[in-house]
Amino acid sequence: MIAIDVHLDADAAAAMANDVREGLTASPKELSPKYFYDERGSQLFERITELPEYYPTRREREILRDRSAEILAAAGTPGTLVELGSGSASKTRHLLNAMRAAGSLRTYVPVDISEEITRRAAAELVDEYPGLDVRGIVCDYETHLERVPRPEGALIAFLGGTIGNFRPAARRSFLARIATLMYPGDRFLLGTDLVKDRAIVEAAYNDSAGVTAEFNKNVLTVLNRELGADFDLDAFEHVAFWDPENEWIDIRLRALSEQLVDLTGLDMRAHFARNEEMRTEISTKFTRERIESSYADAGLELLEWWLDAEGLYALSLARPAQQ
Ligand code: SAH
Ligand code: AVI
Repeated sequence: MIAIDVHLDADAAAAMANDVREGLTASPKELSPKYFYDERGSQLFERITELPEYYPTRREREILRDRSAEILAAAGTPGTLVELGSGSASKTRHLLNAMRAAGSLRTYVPVDISEEITRRAAAELVDEYPGLDVRGIVCDYETHLERVPRPEGALIAFLGGTIGNFRPAARRSFLARIATLMYPGDRFLLGTDLVKDRAIVEAAYNDSAGVTAEFNKNVLTVLNRELGADFDLDAFEHVAFWDPENEWIDIRLRALSEQLVDLTGLDMRAHFARNEEMRTEISTKFTRERIESSYADAGLELLEWWLDAEGLYALSLARPAQQ
């Protein structure tokens, strides 16, 4: 059975308008990465996951392929899997397979801001897992987490390294919110990309086929459509570099010449100087120590830690800290 609840309403449109206005008037300019993911943005991200340079998806898939039975047992063999930022849910199949093999599989709750990809993934999954109850929630998980159904004893997964796309303060409050909403018997499974050689990480965000550049520029197409803007995509170039102090990849769009952009939906005009950069995303890389301290700050406790064979990527399992 499939039920998809959509929580993207007039409030969400107003929140986007405010957010973009703030970001374009800030110095330096900055946009939230959540605006990448319209239908085309989700498709471009899927293409990124297949690029030879983009290792995180393959490494995470390897851990899930090899360790899902162990992960499931460590999480108490739950019947419900809640997945935040589920996207195409392609790697999730390994967890669902382990749940099916253990005889516990009942409900899958994908939570994503992109309606198209959530509907598509839900339709595929009910075909592949007869009897599976899919209750999709289309929402912004930063503002609507409490709307996600959470039967006690669920496994809540946040895969792909998407936690790395939060700014540090937002990451802290997001993890704390998750900890507050978790029942004592729930478990949290988190995918995190790890700090490593700069060249490997920079190559992953500057692929030779230019798909990441297309994904990055797609945010301008979204603003053109949603906010009546007139960004010229050819007037901006993709920039991605390792910031060693913050241990994140900094992803920006750089204006190749002076630009005046009208946003009729915001009743504003944005000015970009030649070479001015606007940040569109960060992708933070972690160490085990940083994950443990992020968990501790949020009221979570690390239970298990799994790495891929090359030690490039980690999955960790946490529970609400015991009082
Ligand atoms: N988990 C998948 C997809 C990762 S891409 C994987 O590992 O491959 C990040 C996903 O998070 C996208 O599907 C995007 O639509 C979703 N997303 C990004 N920001 C979001 C937000 N604020 N609320 C809900 N979903 C969000
Ligand atoms: C979704 N997220 C974890 C991706 C990442 O690697 O930070 C998004 C991405 N941006 C550029 N390439 C991939």
